Amino acid sequence: MPSFYVTTPIYYVNAAPHMGHAYTTIVTDVMARHHRQRGEDVFFLTGTDEHGEPVADAAKAQGVEPKELADRNAERFQALMPRLEASNDFFIRTSDDAHKRRVQEVLARVHENGHTYKGLYEGWYCPRCADFKVENEILEGNRCPIHEIELVREQEENWFFRLSSFQDDLERLYADRPDFVMPRERYNEALAFIRSGLQDIPMSRGRLTWGVEVPWDPDHVFYVWFDALLNYYTALSYARDGDDLTERFWPANFHIIGKDILRFHTVFWPAMLMAADLPLPEHVFVHGFLLGADGRKMSKSLGNVLDPFEVIDRWGVDALRFYLLRDVTFGADGATSIDAVQTRYEGELANELGNLASRTIAMIGRYRDGVVPAVDPDPAVVAEFEELVPAVSALIDRADLTPALEEIWRRVRRLNRYVEEQAPWQLAKDEARAADLDCVLRTLAEALRVVTVLLWPWLPSSAERLLAALGAEELSLAEARLDAGRVREVAKLEPLFPKHS
Ligand code: MSP
Repeated sequence: MPSFYVTTPIYYVNAAPHMGHAYTTIVTDVMARHHRQRGEDVFFLTGTDEHGEPVADAAKAQGVEPKELADRNAERFQALMPRLEASNDFFIRTSDDAHKRRVQEVLARVHENGHTYKGLYEGWYCPRCADFKVENEILEGNRCPIHEIELVREQEENWFFRLSSFQDDLERLYADRPDFVMPRERYNEALAFIRSGLQDIPMSRGRLTWGVEVPWDPDHVFYVWFDALLNYYTALSYARDGDDLTERFWPANFHIIGKDILRFHTVFWPAMLMAADLPLPEHVFVHGFLLGADGRKMSKSLGNVLDPFEVIDRWGVDALRFYLLRDVTFGADGATSIDAVQTRYEGELANELGNLASRTIAMIGRYRDGVVPAVDPDPAVVAEFEELVPAVSALIDRADLTPALEEIWRRVRRLNRYVEEQAPWQLAKDEARAADLDCVLRTLAEALRVVTVLLWPWLPSSAERLLAALGAEELSLAEARLDAGRVREVAKLEPLFPKHS
């Protein structure tokens, strides 16, 4: 059985969960669910990044220990997962002892392999990024290009990671594996950064205690990114009690990340793995940013923030999942607004899918007492569905989640047109056309089931409700064929996407 390992970034616990976190979690969940439907052995990881200066500072400001703050906020991220219907197989916290031990083990190997040295670092540091900035990216007035806050001049004795010595290896990696970083523009961006010349980077902090101790120099803790990136590897070793999953799932198939953390994942991370003699992930997929309705970065002060919980409370989590992948092309940046959610909900979920489901079930009830006629489906429709599963799978293999959804949605629209073309209500008036009506009803029942199975990763609860009404709960893609003949009898279905203000 092929395995599929997919991850989200681990989220900082110094802020509350927001739409950006919900977004990456949802898209990763869509991929995980689709691969499970293929019958693959899937592991989906998410979690929280708890060490480092931002957390230590936030805790200090609140007068609590960092661990206390981390516990409190990690709980909020853990609670977020079921609200999003995220089907993660584990939730890692970098304060887990097993994570810390494993980080020490891996980085001790990096040290023993000769990729570290002690040196003096001086540079412009952003406490919010927990990162030093290089001269050419610093904004006017010594400000952080991401947070726009003033940078601080820092000097300290650190352990360094010899990133510069991986220059050639990284260039070779990019030449050999043109899909290591996706989409292409992000690959180009990462490669340009590598080609501009890599400098060694600090890997420890001497002044901080909230972190993973450097095993060969206990006065230092690892710089948070070294500890954080390794979560993808360490989690597999202790996610299941007494069962180390590393062999089964490492290396990851996809790390899904936002464009803000591209450099860490596309440059530092592969170099670190090389330094530790570990296999590299297959793909890093870098998605864009959700923006406010005004096309600007979402921010509380601009009042343009789309709150995931508000959307869930009004329209349900499926509406949020659908909207985010339908309205914003996955990979690119995109504006978001509550009005756009409502438009997608009413125009597509309620009027297209909801309507197709309710009229199909109602007609089978009205004309055939709820029993689906056991005849062959319409060959014209069968032909139009033939390539659907492989087409969707191929798109998802490239993380093209928006075109994959469009591919399915075209069939939803096609089926609504089919109802109009065939006009079953006319056929029902003419006894001589009973066989035609049988065929239309059979075709609709089975095709509706197939699109619903395919839509499950985007709309898990609605799809499950609808499949239950069709009496066919099987989610496997191997059965997502029109001739499978799974729907035999239909049951009443409350509106899937009720209209409300
Ligand atoms: N802790 C680091 C990641 C370590 S991974 C080894 C971190 N955490 S974070 O809490 O700031 O989360 C950043 C991620 O959240 C982004 O990479 C992206 O996945 C998601 N998003 C945050 N804001 C976002 C938007 N406005 N739009 C889309 N996704 C965004 O960085």
